[in-house]
Amino acid sequence: MFHIADLVQPDKGLINPSIYTDPEIYQAELANVFARSWLFLAHDSQLPKKGSFLQTYMAEDPVLVVRQRDGSVKAFLNQCRHRGMRICRADEGVAKAFTCSYHGWAYNIAGELVNVPMEDRAYHNEIDKSQWGPRQVPRIHNYKGFYFGTWDDDAPSFEEYLGDMAWYFDAMADRYDDGLELVPGATKWVIDANWKFAAEQFASDMYHVPISHSSGFVALFEDPEIRALAAGALAAPGRQFSGNGHGSGSGLRPDLVPDPAGPDFDAFLIERREEIYRRLGEQRALAVYGHNTVFPNFSWLATNNTMRVWHPRGPGRIEVWSWAYLPKNAPEEAKRASRLNTVRTFSPAGVFETDDGKNWTEVQQVLRGHIARQTSFNAQMGLGHEERDLDGMPGRTAGDMFTEMAGRGMYQRWADLMSGLSWQEIAELDKRRREQEEAKQS
Ligand code: FES
Ligand SMILES: [Fe+2]
Repeated sequence: MFHIADLVQPDKGLINPSIYTDPEIYQAELANVFARSWLFLAHDSQLPKKGSFLQTYMAEDPVLVVRQRDGSVKAFLNQCRHRGMRICRADEGVAKAFTCSYHGWAYNIAGELVNVPMEDRAYHNEIDKSQWGPRQVPRIHNYKGFYFGTWDDDAPSFEEYLGDMAWYFDAMADRYDDGLELVPGATKWVIDANWKFAAEQFASDMYHVPISHSSGFVALFEDPEIRALAAGALAAPGRQFSGNGHGSGSGLRPDLVPDPAGPDFDAFLIERREEIYRRLGEQRALAVYGHNTVFPNFSWLATNNTMRVWHPRGPGRIEVWSWAYLPKNAPEEAKRASRLNTVRTFSPAGVFETDDGKNWTEVQQVLRGHIARQTSFNAQMGLGHEERDLDGMPGRTAGDMFTEMAGRGMYQRWADLMSGLSWQEIAELDKRRREQEEAKQS
């Protein structure tokens, strides 16, 4: 048995590392965190036609996401109701129906069982096919082209779930008039670390950048001027946001350019400057351009145009699915520059990705130790220096990018869910916490 309140104390900035290793806690996470939260399923651009489908996961549960004839999107468990085989084994494609490769039960794109081999001879025409479709994901929400789903009927609406994070999400999703597209195909790899290390880092951790990625900066930026620029960006002030378990943070940039993707992308940004400022406002366009996590496991880095889901695979393993995202209808050279930047930096062999993965797997190794697993971690950076609505940035904010406020926020939401609180109770608790914080600030 474990007691969440003893393991995670966000108000004190304390974490017991068994939350990264304990198999019992992991199983509880699948039930209390992943099966109750909104999880990223797909982007519009991945499902271009009627019958377009892809398979993905909601935590460990395989699901099929399918574009319907009326343009809507459905998702259902990729599990045949006969003996549980995957209904579809292809990663993606366009289908009129899905036929299970084990005994041949067939389902339409809405996930209804439509054909059973030898229905008369083997089943004596007694099977009620309407009862044997795969489990449907009951709630799906399209947020600006990003489809999220949840199994939980009691979860708040997606907008409520995002809360103030919407403002930060929009800095990515709403940046261009024509929207975004994902480069076809996900890059997938497995690392031996707990999913929370990755989700937390993308929510909250700029602190590792100058240290962990110093060799990457040297390797990537031969030009001393560009290297100085990167150093300047880290020395500049920054901001962080935390709310509902989500996190976002950036250094404050003086201008949209230079972009890490280089001159061809700069040319595109200069051309679109007015458009971006009109859509987001200049302050947001410049201030929200960094790391982000939508709780629990959807993250992106605006500086490198990479987006990913940290699919949990046991307490000590993550299956990373990452995509490069691009401004739709950008010139080919700009898209190419952006893609190359993503591949060079955040892909399985990217100079920064490998630094991050190595850190997480090393920590996971240390936690094989019995004593190490019980020795608490310090997550106190910036504790007590939170502010609200700093410079018009909505929600709980901090006046520097070097803080662990969003990490603590993520663990708070995690602990609330893991403690078995209802969504209603969590909302009330959050309200009280906010009032206390506001009272302290005024
Ligand atoms: S498991 Fe799918 S038809 Fe038997
Ligand atoms: Fe990193």
